[in-house]
Amino acid sequence: MLEVLLGPEGRRRLILRNLPNAELARLYDSELVLKLHKPKNLRDTRTVLSHFMSHLGAYPPSPELARSFLAQYANRKPRTLYRYAQMIKGFMKWYGEPMADPKVKIPKTLPPYTEDSEIGKLFEPIESKQTHKKSIVRDSLLVALGLKSGMRRSELANLETQDVHADFLGTTKEEREMDMNRIEILRNYIDEVLLNMTDVVERRCAYVHPYGVAQSCALIALKRGENVELAVMAGMLHDIYSYARMDTSDHAHKGATLAREILEELQITSKVEIGIICDAIYSHSDKELTHSAFDEVLKDADTLQYWLYNPLVELLNQPRKERCTRMMVEFDITRDTNVLE
Ligand SMILES: [Fe+2]
Repeated sequence: MLEVLLGPEGRRRLILRNLPNAELARLYDSELVLKLHKPKNLRDTRTVLSHFMSHLGAYPPSPELARSFLAQYANRKPRTLYRYAQMIKGFMKWYGEPMADPKVKIPKTLPPYTEDSEIGKLFEPIESKQTHKKSIVRDSLLVALGLKSGMRRSELANLETQDVHADFLGTTKEEREMDMNRIEILRNYIDEVLLNMTDVVERRCAYVHPYGVAQSCALIALKRGENVELAVMAGMLHDIYSYARMDTSDHAHKGATLAREILEELQITSKVEIGIICDAIYSHSDKELTHSAFDEVLKDADTLQYWLYNPLVELLNQPRKERCTRMMVEFDITRDTNVLE
């Protein structure tokens, strides 16, 4: 009968009253984990509550004990005391013994006025810094944003480009609306380069080959358990220098540099991923050598596309021929290919 009269909230409080403090702390901790998303907040609140539990000892929580606990911190800065009070208040409310707002006065002082000339001094050392990195514009913008918005230093330090504006997501609005993935974004970029090629025959090759190599990359990477997405991107980019500059000399090494510039501009890959893709491009002309497993995917894909474009034509280049023969075994293709023998 009593339980019916109490209602669900009353029943919950009754259950909590009968629990030892250690169990209360454990239950409330789950609430905190769901409520507090910032690790520092969670850490600080857990510390204060653990001190509160020690203060309680075997006594059940009560507003009087909560106040006597907070009184220990009366000599702390008003903002610190206010934070502690909010943490304890949250717990007491959850426990079902809400406490009145502790009277903690936070001084409402305005920060001292800063002259424009003083603000200018913040920018001078940044702008006169000797660095080859593109950090000057970034640092100046961060300081300017801090001044305009009043953001804290920690907030500025944790700022992501996409926090500033959606246009900085590394993709365009149209691309996001089309829900394009990284491969599609890269293809869009490469298509722009290929469309600029004036020679129709060259342009046709420039489409057929990278798209074919990218597909072969996907097949081989899947078979060997390598990263398919990065392999496709490497395949799309591997000869980009030849097409962008209409120059095939040393195109693997120069292409690795150009590919890095493109990927950095597109902001769709991490530094590590850029390294993996560009290393493969750098060594892709060395078909007679063996490099990393990922590099070998690109070299084999480059070879396979070349051969599959017309499998009736005998491969004269020995390293290419050996690679194709090995791949026939790998893919369990036993049919007599003649041209590989
Ligand atoms: Fe190629």
